[in-house]
Amino acid sequence: MSATTEYPNYSPGLQGVIAGITTISHIDVETSSLTYRGINVHELAEHGSFEETAYLLLHGELPTQAQLDAFRATLAAERELPGAVIDALRACPKNMHPMDQVKVAYSVLGAFDADYEAEPTDHDANVRKAVRIIAKAATAVTAGYRLSQGKEPVAPDANLNTAANFLYMLHGEKADDYTVKVMDASLTLYAEHTFNASAFAARVTVATLSDLYSGIATGIGTLKGPLHGGANEEAMHMLMQFNSPEEAEAWTRDALATKKKIMGFGHREYRKSDSRAGYLTKIAKEIGVRMGNTKWGEIADAMEKVMWDEKQLFPNVDFPAAYAYYLLGIPIPLYTPIFVIARTSGWCAHMIEQLDNNRLIRPSCIYEGKGVTNYVPIAQR
Ligand code: ACO
Repeated sequence: MSATTEYPNYSPGLQGVIAGITTISHIDVETSSLTYRGINVHELAEHGSFEETAYLLLHGELPTQAQLDAFRATLAAERELPGAVIDALRACPKNMHPMDQVKVAYSVLGAFDADYEAEPTDHDANVRKAVRIIAKAATAVTAGYRLSQGKEPVAPDANLNTAANFLYMLHGEKADDYTVKVMDASLTLYAEHTFNASAFAARVTVATLSDLYSGIATGIGTLKGPLHGGANEEAMHMLMQFNSPEEAEAWTRDALATKKKIMGFGHREYRKSDSRAGYLTKIAKEIGVRMGNTKWGEIADAMEKVMWDEKQLFPNVDFPAAYAYYLLGIPIPLYTPIFVIARTSGWCAHMIEQLDNNRLIRPSCIYEGKGVTNYVPIAQR
C-alpha cells in the first residue's frame, strides 16, 4: 500500500502541499508561464536586466532610472570580498566543488556584514544584507574557482554589470556584448521560482530567527543536488556522451526503458512545459548558429522528441542552460554556481518575506518505528 493511500493526510515529497503564501513569484500551470511580482519573466529577460530583476524581487516594484542607478552603484561598491574570505577559499582543497566553495564564502561572510548584530526581523537591515549578498556572489564563485585552478582572483570592475563582471572575473578579460546579454538573460531566468526546494529550505532556516547568511548557506547546499540546480551540470555531462542526434535518441529510449532519471527533464510544478526552458532553448540555438556549432541543439531536439513522445516529459530550464553555457566556454563546474549568483536575489526576497511575517516552520511526521521497549544496559546486549 502506498503511503498516500495508507495516510490520506500525507503527501510524499510534499507534492501539492501548500506550505506558505507569497507575493514574490507565480507559476501559471495552465499557460506554463512564470511571473516575478506580476511581470512575465520573458519580458524581464528580453527588455530588462538582472539588476532590475533583483530590485523588483527585493522591493516589489520595478525601479525608476534613479533607483536603478543607485541600486547598481551599491551592488558595484559591495562586490569585494574581505581578505579572510579569500584566505578561507585559498585553504579549501583544490578538488572542492565550486558550490561547496561558495557555501564556505557565505559562511565566513556573515560576520563581516555591517548589520551582523541586527535583529533577524529588522526589515531594513535585511534588505541591506540582501544587496551585499547578491553583490558578492559572482566574486565568491570566480575567486574560489580561479584559486582551485592555481590562478589568483580577478578584482571586480565597478563599471560592469553583474553578468559582464562575472565573465570578466572568470576569464580575466572583458566579454563581448552578445555574451554579456545572454548571461544577463540567463541570470534573470534563474533568479526566482516560487517555493522551490532551496528557497523553501532558506525560509525554514530563517524561520527559526536565524540570519540571512545562514539561509544562503542552506540554499546553496540544497541547490547543489542534481534533482534541483545541479541538473545543469549533469545534463551537460550527459550530452557530451553523444556524437549525433541518432546516438542521443537511442540512449534516451534505453534510459527510459531502464527507468533512468534523465537530467534536465521534468518538473514538479509545470505540466506541459517550463517556459524558461523554451526561452533559453531559443537563445542556446542562436548561440550555436552564431558559433557555427549547431550540434548540441540538434542532439537536444532529438532527446526532447523522445522524452515527449514516450513520457510527455519536457525540458526544464537546466537543459538548454547546459549547452548554452558550454557554447559560451563556461567551465561545467560553474553552471550551478551561476544559478547561485542569480538565485541569491530570489532567496533573499523569500527570507525577507518570511521574516516580515514569521512563524516557525515545523511539519509533523508519521512514526513507523518500533514500539516502546525498555533500555537494555550495554553489558546485557
Ligand atoms: N527522466 C526520466 N523520468 C522522469 C524524469 C526524468 N527527468 N522526471 C520525471 N520522470 C518520471 C519518473 O520516473 C516518474 O515516473 P513513474 O511514475 O513511471 O515512476 C514520474 O516521471 C514522476 O517523477 P518524479 O521524480 O516522482 O517527479 P517529482 O515531481 O518528484 O520530481 C523532478 C521532479 C525532481 C524535477 C524530476 O522530474 C527529475 O528528477 N528530473 C531530473 C532532474 C532535473 O532536471 N532537475 C531540475 C529540476 S528544475 C530546477 O530545479 C531548476
